[in-house]
Formats: sequence, C-alpha cells, structure tokens
Amino acid sequence: MDDLIKKAAEDIAAARQVTALTGAGISVESGIPPFRGKGGLWEKIDPMEYAHIDAFSRDPEKVWEVLIKGMKDILDTAEPNDAHKGLARLEKFGKLKTIITQNVDGLHQTAGSTDVIEFHGNFAWQRCTDCGDRCRTSDISMEKIPPRCHCGGIYRPDCVFFGEMIPPDALLRSRTLAMSCDVMLVMGTSAMVQPAAYMPVLARENGARVIEINPEPTPLTGHISDYIIQGSGGVVMNGIIARLEGLS
Ligand code: APR
Repeated sequence: MDDLIKKAAEDIAAARQVTALTGAGISVESGIPPFRGKGGLWEKIDPMEYAHIDAFSRDPEKVWEVLIKGMKDILDTAEPNDAHKGLARLEKFGKLKTIITQNVDGLHQTAGSTDVIEFHGNFAWQRCTDCGDRCRTSDISMEKIPPRCHCGGIYRPDCVFFGEMIPPDALLRSRTLAMSCDVMLVMGTSAMVQPAAYMPVLARENGARVIEINPEPTPLTGHISDYIIQGSGGVVMNGIIARLEGLS
C-alpha cells in the first residue's frame, strides 16, 4: 500500500485540479455506519421501505421512527476523522478544489473544507412538507413523531430520498468538475448509486487519473479507476498528506 500512497501523493502534487467524490465509508471512522457491506444500514432495513420518497409519503411516522430518528442520534454527536481532515488539508495545499459528497453528515464542512457539493442534500436541515419552512435538525423537538411545523405540516430531512431528483445545481456543477479535473479521488463509496457513481466515469472519459481509496474493490476498480489504495480513508489520507509535506 505504501508505494501506492507515494504514487497518489506524486499524482496529486503534479495535478492542476483535484476533485474528490466521497461516500459513507469515509465517515465510518467517525462512528457512522455505512449503507452497504459490513455493518451496513441496508443490511438491517430495506431502503425501499424506509428511504424512498413514496415510503415517506405513505407513512412518514414509520420512516421517522425507523430511519430518521436513529440517523439524528448518530449525527448529533459525530466528529470529523482523519479522512475528512486530510481532504481539508489538501484544499489548504491548493490542490483539492471541490468535494462532491454523497454524505449528508456535514463532516467535510466541520473539518474545514469550504467547497462541498452535497449531492444527496444535508441532514442538518429539515423542511416542512406543507409550507416549506426550514429548521435545523438539532432544533427539532422529537417529542412527537413525526415532528410538525407550526403550520401543522410534517418536517422531512433536506436529503434526497430514493426516487427523488438530485438537486440540479449540484448535478450540473459536479459534472463540470468531473470533466475538468485531472485527478479524481474516489473515497469510501461502493459506487452502486447513480448518478453519483457516474462522476468518476466522466472524469476518466475526459482524461483524468481516477484514484480509489477503499478497503474493498468496487465496480469502478480495474475498469474506471487507474488504481485502488486498499485501506481506510483516515490511514491513507494521513500517508498522502505526510508525503505531500515531504515533497514540498
Ligand atoms: N475508509 C474508506 N472506505 C470505507 C471504510 C473506511 N474506513 N469503511 C468502509 N468503506 C467503504 C466500503 O468498502 C464501501 O465500498 O465505503 C463504502 C461504503 O459504501 P456505501 O455504504 O454503499 O455508501 P455510499 O457509496 O456512500 O452509498 C451511496 O447510497 O443509500 C444511498 O444515499 C445513500 O449516499 C448513499 C448512496
């Protein structure tokens, strides 16, 4: 793994513009379970029954009880780990321009990254399904489930449920950055969900070097990625940052 970490540091140092695509795996070291694979949330509950917009519309109380309440408990106390901090350092080095994240935990921003595209929205905010009023998730009273707005409408997280559109501005900007970067770091994602998983394909098609950081291979490995560093995000990012500091 060390030689690949050294290679990644050299590729990043030589890059004009690095874009990162991140997924749930880089928040695992912050205590947030992933969706797929070992300990994955979707191994326990069916996403189509709890994370699809039709399921929420049909029974918001059930979705709040089974999915959203648990997410709030975990996200309320989660802190950034070395993977998030390493990406924030890359931005300070002037190498990493933007992070396209599928995560809704806001940990990239907490770690200091300033240009984060939230491809699947953000769990920090709730919005009323009737009047559109927005309220911080941390300010929502959980006494009554589902929580209701002063107008009587039901709150929902400002995240993208399955069956919903990716926010158009997030999608368009991500495509532009995927096609214009010369290195794409793909970290902690199983690359199973579209259109997020198409960003590395776009990057590759436009001549970028695609580097995966993940303990496990994904459908991108060997086809779209130039190489995969099979390790955890925090350990690999610490290695890359250490070598970049050695190079400068
Ligand atoms: N460091 C890096 N990667 C890790 C780590 C770690 N410490 N631990 C696990 N991983 C990897 C797993 O090997 C897996 O490939 O992270 C990936 C997590 O995959 P998923 O749980 O599928 O998360 P993600 O790819 O972000 O899911 C995409 O699916 O359910 C929807 O909206 C949800 O945004 C999510 C989307």
